[in-house]
Amino acid sequence: MIFTSKRFFAIGALCLSCLAQAASAQDVTAELPPEVRSLLQKEMLQIDAAMKVIHGSIVRGEHEVVEKQGKAIHDSFILQQSITPEGRKALKNAVPEGFLQLDQGFHALAAQLSDSGGREDTAAQLKIFGQLTQACVTCHSRYVSERFDGLDAQ
Ligand code: HEC
Repeated sequence: MIFTSKRFFAIGALCLSCLAQAASAQDVTAELPPEVRSLLQKEMLQIDAAMKVIHGSIVRGEHEVVEKQGKAIHDSFILQQSITPEGRKALKNAVPEGFLQLDQGFHALAAQLSDSGGREDTAAQLKIFGQLTQACVTCHSRYVSERFDGLDAQ
């Protein structure tokens, strides 16, 4: 017999680890109802656009724009706006606790950035902008690793 039980076991163990890898590469949002997922994607595009405007405003010393756009990111926080209560529930159920925590941290940073705009504090804006960018990369690399497969887990 070529396939001794030991070999079977080894092959089984190998397959399990393949499955685990395939599962971890799947985006956390892949199983969401399509309308919830599409709202989340829209929010992300808005955040992306706001980050670009903020970057330009920091380097030009346009503090009031930093304040306004930081607040816009804060307010467009995916779990608070536009998503219906049912959609929010689906999202909360679909994503792991770590995702929600990252989202909350991200939310708080956007508020801090807005405040630093209000204080006309360029040094703080630079620091917080970097932290926000780190938060994008952390969440994408952990939870959107299929779409954004160029990011190593951070
Ligand atoms: C807490 C997690 C989390 C954080 C923080 C986060 N994102 Fe995302 N982002 C996602 C998820 C999940 C998707 C994938 C949505 C999908 O395709 O289902 C995504 C997708 C995107 C997309 C693609 C949108 C599309 O469908 O075309 C952009 C752009 C984006 N994010 C920008 C950003 C930027 C910029 C930041 C930081 C300022 C950021 N994200 C922070 C979770 C996050």
